Amino acid sequence: MTTTTATAPPLAIEARGLRKAFGDKTVLDGIDLAVPAGSVFSLLGPNGAGKTTAVKILSTLVTADAGELFVGGHDLAADPQAVRAAIGVTGQFSAVDGLITGEENMHLMADLHHLPRREGRRAAAALLDRFDLTEAARKPAATYSGGMRRRLDIAMTLVGSPRILFLDEPTTGLDPRSRHTMWRMIRDLVADGATVFLTTQYLDEADELADRIAVLSEGRIAATGSADELKRLVPGGHVRLRFTDPVGYRAAVAVLRDVTTDDEALTVRIPSDGTQRELRSLLDWLDAAGVEADELSVHTPDLDDVFFALTGGADKSTTRPEEALR
Ligand SMILES: Nc1ncnc2c1ncn2[C@@H]1O[C@H](COP(=O)(O)OP(=O)(O)O)[C@@H](O)[C@H]1O
Ligand SMILES: [Mg+2]
Repeated sequence: MTTTTATAPPLAIEARGLRKAFGDKTVLDGIDLAVPAGSVFSLLGPNGAGKTTAVKILSTLVTADAGELFVGGHDLAADPQAVRAAIGVTGQFSAVDGLITGEENMHLMADLHHLPRREGRRAAAALLDRFDLTEAARKPAATYSGGMRRRLDIAMTLVGSPRILFLDEPTTGLDPRSRHTMWRMIRDLVADGATVFLTTQYLDEADELADRIAVLSEGRIAATGSADELKRLVPGGHVRLRFTDPVGYRAAVAVLRDVTTDDEALTVRIPSDGTQRELRSLLDWLDAAGVEADELSVHTPDLDDVFFALTGGADKSTTRPEEALR
């Protein structure tokens, strides 16, 4: 018999006890983060939660008050230069110079990274192509749409071929189509082996992209886990029955108890954990009661439920969900 020892992937980013205050305002109150290499990690929190502060600290732009911090295997306090060489940062606010063209912005970045001229030009052209900016490359960046600017911003970040990328709210303010384009590009980056540290205020974005999510609330990590793990922390699963005929709907409402009804949409919500066993007994019971819905759908709680449960002034005396997860 052979035994294999599973080795956890190395951590691209690790923080232990990260603290930061501005004056007497504590923004990060001793947070722990662990981001495996090659994954997408999302720091999720409302405006003012401290996301940008965390990104600035981990990318060496701001110093922490306390904490052991490692990025790309380098101790941030001892060797910030090595950290800087391993990372790329796309800030919440664009670094694009609107007065020059997209291409010129890219060439400027190539020069900053001391790429030989020919190699710099080639890298810039390849990245402009990859981010669908070839056509616009010779136009002043000020004429770009919000989505194009964000793409140029990320393309500029990639000029130095960083293995670890910090993207601070990369889709805030973008229209739905540009958001989806951005999501596809982020997935491509990770497929190529990069590690992405992404901040967002959007639950659907974290759900869509992140392998792991940390919810930042009042300076602390309120919960951490995969989207599915977080969803399991809160109740809210239900089965929804939809009727097209008001008569059938009213007959169903008359026999069902413990349900939430919507007279306008002709729908009924029945609490459920969504397991096969529970669904089977629910269906049997509906059959026996003569309830025949036109549509049945199973809903698991979404990140919205989690977020509001964790950050919505929840009772602080209860067990912290992060304890339950670890
Ligand atoms: N340089 C600074 N000086 C003083 N306060 C700051 C500074 N940077 C951020 N803050 C404060 O720290 C808090 C967190 O800010 P930030 O990290 O930008 O949050 P987020 O990115 O989640 O919106 C906010 O209350 C903000 O006003
Ligand atoms: Mg911010």
